[in-house]
Amino acid sequence: MMSLLLPLLLSAMLAFQAVAMMEVHVPDQPVVALHNTDVILNCSFSSTAPFNASDVTVFWQLTDTKRSVYGYREGHDQLADQAERFANRTGLFPHELGLGNASLLLRRVVVADEGSYMCFVRVREYGSAALFLQVAAPYSKPVVTLESESNLRPGEEVALTCVAYGGYPEADVMWQDGGGRNLTDNVTTSVVANEEGLFSLTSVLTVVLEPNSTYSCTLINPLLGEEGNAFVTVTGQNISFPPVALWVTIGLAVCLLVLLVALAAVCRRKIKESCEEARREAEEAKELEEDEESKTAMTLLKS
Ligand SMILES: *[C@@H]1O[C@H](CO)[C@@H](O)[C@H](O)[C@H]1NC(C)=O
Ligand SMILES: *[C@@H]1O[C@H](CO)[C@@H](O)[C@H](O)[C@H]1NC(C)=O
Ligand SMILES: *[C@@H]1O[C@H](CO)[C@@H](O)[C@H](O)[C@H]1NC(C)=O
Ligand SMILES: *[C@@H]1O[C@H](CO)[C@@H](O)[C@H](O)[C@H]1NC(C)=O
Ligand SMILES: *[C@@H]1O[C@H](CO)[C@@H](O)[C@H](O)[C@H]1NC(C)=O
Ligand SMILES: *[C@@H]1O[C@H](CO)[C@@H](O)[C@H](O)[C@H]1NC(C)=O
Ligand SMILES: *[C@@H]1O[C@H](CO)[C@@H](O)[C@H](O)[C@H]1NC(C)=O
Repeated sequence: MMSLLLPLLLSAMLAFQAVAMMEVHVPDQPVVALHNTDVILNCSFSSTAPFNASDVTVFWQLTDTKRSVYGYREGHDQLADQAERFANRTGLFPHELGLGNASLLLRRVVVADEGSYMCFVRVREYGSAALFLQVAAPYSKPVVTLESESNLRPGEEVALTCVAYGGYPEADVMWQDGGGRNLTDNVTTSVVANEEGLFSLTSVLTVVLEPNSTYSCTLINPLLGEEGNAFVTVTGQNISFPPVALWVTIGLAVCLLVLLVALAAVCRRKIKESCEEARREAEEAKELEEDEESKTAMTLLKS
């Protein structure tokens, strides 16, 4: 029993001791860096015993892949196993080491740098902590276009396209009409990444056109907030259904209706007249027939 507990107890004590002796602090919140700018990944440590800067070993690595980002030992960079993509982009602040500052300078941040970084520090004891680096890039000003600028009719479905590029991460797109109403039903948004990992964003809104309406597209970068805004206004000029044409159409329709009613009335009278005529003719024919009949009867009597 004792032989089982002892190693457990020992390792627990050692772990406790290591943590207690060497506290390493990094930001709790993700560190946001703009694409193509330099960033400092803060990492500080405090040792209970006084120490000499030349005794400090610092090692930064990617948490997931364990690839080496940067190393520092005995007063010198240790870059033999540094991942290729960090070459010439990393550095420590050696003068700050004695103050417990093991922060890493990372130059010209790219989208691929996004991820979790681990800061290891050893003086006599050892400690580590991980932070998360997030990359942000502002989008270009969005541009909204109407599917076809001419031959639009009210009541027709059209596609409005909002395009922006060169941003990161994926932005939310909000479509609104002139009254600030949220149009979310028929929106399709897609993103395509370029070789740098920056996004081109295309959002298509399908609406039933109304004259004099405004449709606006707003980009919201989750890291940078509201970024850009663009809109189109569909005026009567875009729509080939101006009021004049409408009234002409209604006028024509009314004329046609009046004409039809008049025609119907005329026809009815004509039909009535011809009916009466027909009846008269029929009566005459009947009288004639009766005459004929009596004549026949007379002939029969004669024979
Ligand atoms: C890094 O540390 C300095 C000094 O403590 C502080 O002013 C700065 O805001 C920190 N940066 C981040 C991203 O936490
Ligand atoms: C570490 O030193 C650098 C350079 O002076 C400074 O920018 C950074 O804020 C320092 N970080 C901390 C945590 O003190
Ligand atoms: C730090 O190192 C230097 C030279 O390596 C030495 O002269 C100095 O005494 C050391 N300081 C401490 C506190 O160990
Ligand atoms: C880093 O800098 C050195 C010297 O300036 C240069 O020879 C090397 O090609 C650079 N490496 C990268 C990956 O840029
Ligand atoms: C618009 O509607 C979407 C989905 O219903 C919602 O997530 C968003 O917060 C709304 N935006 C505003 C400004 O009301
Ligand atoms: C969304 O699209 C469908 C089919 O294209 C259409 O019937 C519907 O009216 C549209 N909804 C809105 C709010 O525009
Ligand atoms: C559209 O707006 C213009 C200018 O504001 C106005 O003269 C016109 O009457 C409006 N048309 C409709 C159909 O609302």
